[in-house]
Amino acid sequence: MKPSSSFTALALLLPLLIMIKATQGQSLINSTCKTCGINDPNIDYDFCTTSLQAAPASRCATLQGLCTISIRLIRDNVTDTRCYIEQLMKNPRWDPYTRRCLSDCFELFSDAVSAVEEAMRCYSAKRFDDANVQISSVMDAATTCEDGFVERGAVFSPLTKRNNDTFQLSAVALSVMHMVEAGSG
Ligand SMILES: *[C@@H]1O[C@H](CO)[C@@H](O)[C@H](O)[C@H]1NC(C)=O
Ligand SMILES: *[C@@H]1O[C@H](CO)[C@@H](O)[C@H](O)[C@H]1NC(C)=O
Ligand SMILES: *[C@@H]1O[C@H](CO)[C@@H](O)[C@H](O)[C@H]1NC(C)=O
Repeated sequence: MKPSSSFTALALLLPLLIMIKATQGQSLINSTCKTCGINDPNIDYDFCTTSLQAAPASRCATLQGLCTISIRLIRDNVTDTRCYIEQLMKNPRWDPYTRRCLSDCFELFSDAVSAVEEAMRCYSAKRFDDANVQISSVMDAATTCEDGFVERGAVFSPLTKRNNDTFQLSAVALSVMHMVEAGSG
């Protein structure tokens, strides 16, 4: 083969190889999310795949990598939600019940930001039980925040979608971590 034609062959082959690699990555995300859904009926398959696929480099990640990515997704979510609540609280027009709930949620999400950072450290150190406790506390924070609006008789919760996202992402992270743990014996 002349150099030019082998170059052509490589140029044709390379996109194919990249595509195969990307498909493998996507199929790890798909199969991981399928297992998540079986282990935890709370986890919505489409939510799981959409969330993981949207994360940078997730298509090339191993299972351990997907777990790190899922914890990072929680961190980005809770950090943004805390900021969002802070903005909402600047609006003077909330009724007193809703204002009280927002204030509680701000506290809850502030703790959740610390918890997920601690979870990241625990996971990196393979202290899975400790990481599990931290992520579970993030799930509880989202549930407590959401329930507060109902219990205090607020007209509606402006945080329903965000609380649900945090809850779902945490469920995914716990489930993936379970698989990592099972795999590492
Ligand atoms: C992964 O799932 C998505 C939809 O959830 C689908 O479009 C895609 O073809 C699947 N990829 C593989 C490699 O199975
Ligand atoms: C939180 O996570 C969900 C699910 O991945 C995503 O759709 C949403 O955009 C994220 N929100 C923020 C603020 O990062
Ligand atoms: C929470 O999110 C999941 C996945 O997107 C969805 O199936 C479910 O209906 C949502 N629940 C609420 C209460 O919004």
